[in-house]
Amino acid sequence: MQTTEREPEIRADFERHGQAHVLRHLGTLDDARRAALIAQLASVDLALVSRLVKGGEESKVDYASVKPAPYVALGSPAGSARAHGEALLRAGKVAVFTVAGGQGTRLGWKGPKGTFPATVVTGKPLFRVFAEQIAAAEKRYGRSLPWYIMTSPLNSADTQAFFRDNNWFGRNPADTFLFEQGTMPSVTFDGRLILESPQSLALNPDGHGGAIRALHASGALEDMQARGVEHMSYFQVDNPMVRIADPVFLGLHASSEGSSAEMSSKMVAKRNAAEKVGVFCEVAGKTAVIEYSDMPAELTNSLDAQGKLRFNAGSIAIHAISVEFMQRLTQGDFALPFHRAKKKVPYWCDDAKKTVEPAEPNAIKFEAFIFDALGLARKSLVMETSRTEEFAPLKNATGEDSPAWSHQIQSNRNGDWLEKFGVKIPRKPNGDVDARIEIAAETALEADDLADVALPREIKSGEEVLL
Ligand code: UTP
Repeated sequence: MQTTEREPEIRADFERHGQAHVLRHLGTLDDARRAALIAQLASVDLALVSRLVKGGEESKVDYASVKPAPYVALGSPAGSARAHGEALLRAGKVAVFTVAGGQGTRLGWKGPKGTFPATVVTGKPLFRVFAEQIAAAEKRYGRSLPWYIMTSPLNSADTQAFFRDNNWFGRNPADTFLFEQGTMPSVTFDGRLILESPQSLALNPDGHGGAIRALHASGALEDMQARGVEHMSYFQVDNPMVRIADPVFLGLHASSEGSSAEMSSKMVAKRNAAEKVGVFCEVAGKTAVIEYSDMPAELTNSLDAQGKLRFNAGSIAIHAISVEFMQRLTQGDFALPFHRAKKKVPYWCDDAKKTVEPAEPNAIKFEAFIFDALGLARKSLVMETSRTEEFAPLKNATGEDSPAWSHQIQSNRNGDWLEKFGVKIPRKPNGDVDARIEIAAETALEADDLADVALPREIKSGEEVLL
């Protein structure tokens, strides 16, 4: 049946759920726009939206029994983990998975976030940074590392075009797999669906947790299995310092306690109690990330016998995930919970006859989070890493986690790497590197790779250096 023929049925459904206001312009639309709106409305799960609006579905955590999650501390002997991880990479058992479907509203960049100029000297866009790192790893391990990228209906055309315009960054296009995640409608604070224009609803991508369903629905999981891939190296598009397919992390993940973990995570020690990051905890015997906003203050602030934060394991959204685990989850009647966030959502104003950008949050977005899958994993491992080595996300236009902030961390890390090989590095009074230093993935994937590189003896204060 044509979707337009379903109009009466859809209208009745929306009336029953108290959402018929989104059909108010239908009579004024031409056939194409009318069909587009009807198709969009037909894809909305109204029963789910009603349940989410009513709320009360969030899982109740017994905070009295929550413990810090155990983790492999920084500097712990890695044993055979590196060799194991390298063997997986050489055997073609690893794929790269980037979630890039977010809207990047805080950063305020008009294109997909992956097109944002991220590096400190050459301003390479994030997608290029990752592509070059993947290419360097492919060269090192002599195998292709298939790269799966989740976009959303809001940015997939622009992302595709960016890859095409950049000639797939010199990699084989058949080894890059772009696919779309699903969407959820945004609602007003009193639970009403929102029109963004007379012919379209305000929809938002359904969160990075939407990745699980989308991996399955898009055929990405099947493609991984056909290639013999067993584990995914997962990261978010906004962290230019991520160590993709880290052999130590993969090795620990895949050989944890004799059998493979299903989902592993990297953490960094929190800067202080107030830092707004999710924290790895143990809830009912399972590893979980508890959002900073959900964590009771007495837990957030509690100290151990040495006076250190008890709950110090901050999540940096870097995971190793087994393909089999994702397959298992998508077989049954599976759903991750949706979280609610108050956001600014542009809406159609009938009086002004235009789409209005609100100055303050006016709506609720529903998003699923990938880390909620941790509770479904049979085994899970958390590994500590250094913030300067691997985490400088581009979240905000200014201040913390802004481009300037990320650039400083990039230079700090690169300065540390060079210092290890005797290069004299200028420092500011607070210890930050007082120069702009960029190291391409082709030059070094990690500090020790610089052993074979011709290095300057000294970098001068304020200098720009590209290696
Ligand atoms: P964030 O939660 O930081 O959101 O996403 P964002 O969309 O980038 O930025 P804001 O909140 O609008 O400012 C973390 C990561 O998860 C991805 C993002 O692309 C980013 O890599 N993500 C987020 C998705 O892939 N899909 C989503 O629905 C949400």
